[in-house]
Amino acid sequence: MHTASPRSLPPSRLRDAGLAPAGQRKIDWAAQHMPVLNRVRAELEQERPLRGLRLAVCLHLEAKTAYLALTLQAAGAEVVACASNPLSTQDDVVAALAEQGVTVFAWHGASPEEYESHLAAALDCHPDAIIDDGGDLVGMLHRDRPAQARRILGGCEETTTGVLRLKAMEKDGLLLFPMMDVNDALMKYLFDNRYGTGQSVWDGIMRTTNLVVAGKTVVVAGYGWCGKGVAMRAKGLGARVVVTEIDPIKANEAWLDGFQVMRMEQAAPLGDLFITVTGNIDVIRGEHMVLMRDGALLANAGHFDVEIRKPDLEQLALSRRLVRPNVEEFTLPGGKRLHLLAEGRLVNLAAGDGHPVEVMDLSFSLQALALLHLVREHASMAPGVYPVPAEIDRRVAELRLEALGLSIDQLSPEQAAYLSSWQA
Ligand code: ADE
Repeated sequence: MHTASPRSLPPSRLRDAGLAPAGQRKIDWAAQHMPVLNRVRAELEQERPLRGLRLAVCLHLEAKTAYLALTLQAAGAEVVACASNPLSTQDDVVAALAEQGVTVFAWHGASPEEYESHLAAALDCHPDAIIDDGGDLVGMLHRDRPAQARRILGGCEETTTGVLRLKAMEKDGLLLFPMMDVNDALMKYLFDNRYGTGQSVWDGIMRTTNLVVAGKTVVVAGYGWCGKGVAMRAKGLGARVVVTEIDPIKANEAWLDGFQVMRMEQAAPLGDLFITVTGNIDVIRGEHMVLMRDGALLANAGHFDVEIRKPDLEQLALSRRLVRPNVEEFTLPGGKRLHLLAEGRLVNLAAGDGHPVEVMDLSFSLQALALLHLVREHASMAPGVYPVPAEIDRRVAELRLEALGLSIDQLSPEQAAYLSSWQA
């Protein structure tokens, strides 16, 4: 069916293989709470439609992604894994994956050079297809290995940032294979981006700081689907919520959702806690930092650590120290202290376990089914970014309702005719 690589795989590179039992317990817990993926898995295990496929996954290596990797392995794929962020990798989960026969190159806290070398090692395994989260693996293939890229069947992308990069490559005529845009499936962004980020960001911030949210002024930068979730849950926790935006439509939406809307320079002196969720660079800069209150907390929930300008913070500070795990205090002239969480990396994964399991159940079921679609259809797919077919979205929605034991009404023939008629 496809071009399985005959090359044998090198050994995994990981921190400590002895951590595997602890990692396996985390994976088992996730697996128990992923009924949709389990339904998909039951079919894939029987048919093994990915037999002969070597797949590289570049994902946040925690329990839910591990279960996706194992599901794809059960579907017949030979799976190679590397991390999509050096701080979200959980070493015990990596060890468990390796024990289960996945070839993994990752450890928590990898330096930028180690991180790159892990991605390169995954590509050295000559995968036939890719699942990426944020576009680093696809980016490396196109930048450093165009000849290899031309032999790839295609892949799937998980997140907004990755899809933006893919679309930029497509626009410039540089994308060399088809990529499924899983992020923009309805069963992905309406749930993962909104409710997933909405919960996991607060989980990460609360477990890291152990501070109360109620009564605080929380400034949320960005009112896309992720920002909406973060702001909604901030309100539920009793915070006063300010939203900053660059898009007038989203700003209007935030206002009618009951939030204050203003520019970052106006919000800077008001906020107790700032959360960037824009996907863009330089959202909180030195000029804002100098206006902030003593003790203000700064967290990022966007894919890359570029939204809070860390070099500005480092330049402004007279001293810095770690005051709790994942909380770095920067003292500015005059004694004002600003606290950066998780090095400005995505706080829900670098200082937490990522989105709730039941939410990732939907995203990863879409990933599995989108990959299957790609593998089956790639011959007729030119390089480009492809939406997840509506039938897959609908199937995941139906499986989720089935798992919840919920049933919904059906259109009667008369209702269906009414909806499709202009005369009635
Ligand atoms: N867990 C695994 N991947 C994740 C992602 N992209 N966002 C949040 N949690 C995750």
